[in-house]
Amino acid sequence: MKVKLVVTHPRKDSLTFAVMNRFIEGMKENGHEIDVLDLYNDGFNPLYSAEDEQDWQSPDKVFSPAVRKEMDRVLAADAIVFVFPIWWYNMPSLMKTYLDRVWNIGIFGELGDKKVLWIALAGGTEAVFQKYDYANMISHYLNNGIGKYARMKESRVEYIYDTLSQSKEHIAGLLEQAYHIGKTYN
Ligand SMILES: Cc1cc2nc3c(=O)[nH]c(=O)nc-3n(C[C@H](O)[C@H](O)[C@H](O)COP(=O)(O)O)c2cc1C
Repeated sequence: MKVKLVVTHPRKDSLTFAVMNRFIEGMKENGHEIDVLDLYNDGFNPLYSAEDEQDWQSPDKVFSPAVRKEMDRVLAADAIVFVFPIWWYNMPSLMKTYLDRVWNIGIFGELGDKKVLWIALAGGTEAVFQKYDYANMISHYLNNGIGKYARMKESRVEYIYDTLSQSKEHIAGLLEQAYHIGKTYN
């Protein structure tokens, strides 16, 4: 598969990047190709501009070269994978603005043969996410509000829990989980 991976974190030495790297190692075991967009370090412009505003009446609207380039990277992929920390039970704002700017009517209708995978790192534990229904809340939004709305053929969320743990064994287990997700993603 051709995979477009979007990572969102200000620090390359973060657990988010370590999870991404292990996921990629797992995917490469099966020969998948990965095209990475690092929203912070590649300087993605977070401003939604009038130039790129969606126009529901003009499906043939011409977008700015920067947005068009990112749309084409999505269209070239079979699967789009997002790796990000959960901030306020949601995606980081830079990732949201990426979706606002790039995932719009300009590419809707062309995503039906693609799948999306959301790898979300949570400081909270799985027990807390179950108790307060956070996992269902976030998954419902990502899978239905985005994946289904964009008519993608599959949308799935994988949670990497308890990321602030001081236990080296626990963190090693999370990286193993990331590797396994990559190795089994087809
Ligand atoms: C601004 C901010 C908001 C956060 N909000 C949440 C949250 O709502 N739920 C949660 O479980 N963890 C939350 N966290 C913890 C992050 O998910 C955690 O820092 C991250 O998973 C650790 O990975 P990292 O080292 O790559 O940042 C938040 C962290 C930050 C910085």
